[in-house]
Amino acid sequence: MKEADPHRFYHDRFLKKAQRNSGKPRLMHGKVGWSSPSNIALVKYWGKCGDQIACNPSLSFSLDLSRTKTEIEYEYSSNDSGPSIDFFFEKDSKPDFEQRISKYLNRILPYFPFLKNFHLRISSENTFPHSSGIASSASSMSALALCICSMEQQIVGSVSSQSDFKKKASFMARLGSGSASRSVWDNFAVWGRTEVVFRSSDEIAVPLPFKVSPVFSNLKDSVLIVDDGPKIISSSSGHALMNDHPFAETRYQVARSNLNSMVRCLENGSYDEFVELVESEALMLHGLIVSSEGGYILIKPETLEIIEKIRWIRTNKGIPVCFTLDAGANVHLLYPEKHSRKVRKIVETELTDYCKNGQWIDDGMGSGPREITNR
Ligand code: PMV
Repeated sequence: MKEADPHRFYHDRFLKKAQRNSGKPRLMHGKVGWSSPSNIALVKYWGKCGDQIACNPSLSFSLDLSRTKTEIEYEYSSNDSGPSIDFFFEKDSKPDFEQRISKYLNRILPYFPFLKNFHLRISSENTFPHSSGIASSASSMSALALCICSMEQQIVGSVSSQSDFKKKASFMARLGSGSASRSVWDNFAVWGRTEVVFRSSDEIAVPLPFKVSPVFSNLKDSVLIVDDGPKIISSSSGHALMNDHPFAETRYQVARSNLNSMVRCLENGSYDEFVELVESEALMLHGLIVSSEGGYILIKPETLEIIEKIRWIRTNKGIPVCFTLDAGANVHLLYPEKHSRKVRKIVETELTDYCKNGQWIDDGMGSGPREITNR
C-alpha cells in the first residue's frame, strides 16, 4: 500500500471537504471576528522548504496581551472573480497590507472556494504599539485564518469540533506565516513532526499532549523593546538565508535534539535545563543570522547589555530569569510568575535604560485566541 505523504494529509482532507461544500451559500452577509495572540518560540523555526514547511520542529507559548484583533464583514456578490477586499489597519487603509492579504486569500482559495463570490471588509488592530518591534505576523495571520474558518462555518454551514476547527485554522495560518500556526492554541504548541509529540505534524501546530509541570505554568514574558524600527530583513528573506547556509544541516539536527530535551523539561520541571536550552536557541538563531551570506547583525549593543544583566541577576540575585530573542533586537525576559514583583522592580530600575524610550511590555503566557464577533 502507498504510504500517505506526511505533507499532504491535512491538505488532502481540507481540499476534499471544500469540494463537498461547494454548493450554494447559506448566508449572503455576516460578520466574524477573532482576537489572536502573538507567540514566543523557545525552540526556533528558522529555515523552510516546499509549501511553507519548516526544516525543523519548533515549540512556543502564546502570549496573553500582545494580540491582533481582526473583524471581517462579508457580502455575497454574483460576480465570482473574488475574493475582493477592503483592508483597514487601525482604521486607515494600508495598500501594502491589502496586497499581502489579497495574495494570501488567493493562496487559500482552493480550500475555501466560496470566497470567490464574496467581498470582504477586513479591519484589524494590534493591542501592542505598531512600532514596538513585536513581530505581528503570528497574531495577524492567525486572527485572519480563524476569521476565514468562522466565515466558512457560517456560509457553508459546516460544523466541526473545536479541536478540528483549530487544526484547520492552524493549517491556514501556517500558509500566511509559519509561526502563526502555533498561535491558534493556548499555552505551549509544537509545529513540525517529531516523534516526541503525539500527532505532531509538519502541516499544523498541535498543543502539548501532556500535563506540563507546574514549574512552567504561567511563565511571564517581559518584552524589552530595544528597537522599534522596521525590520532590516523580512522573515521570508531570513528563512531563505538558510537555503545555502553552511551550518544548515547541523542546525536542524541540533534543533530536533533541543526540541526533544525541551519537551522532557516541560514534562519533568527541570528549570535549569530549560534556561540553558532557551538561551542557547536564541543565541544560535542569531549565530545563524550573523554567519549567513550578507552577515546580518540584528541585535544592538543594548541587546547584549541586557543579556549580560539578565545572567548577572540570575547568578547573583538568585532570580531564575532567562532570555530569548526573535529575529530582531528586542529581548524577551522569561521567568515564573511568582517572581513578578521582584522582576518588575529590576526591569524598571535596571533594564529600561537600555530600552528605546524606556518601552517594555509586561506580558506572559496566555489563554489563546478569543472569538469576538459572530453574527
Ligand atoms: O513565521 P515567521 O516566518 O515570521 O518566522 C518566525 C521566525 C522566528 O520568530 C525567528 C522563530 C519562531 O519560531 O517564531
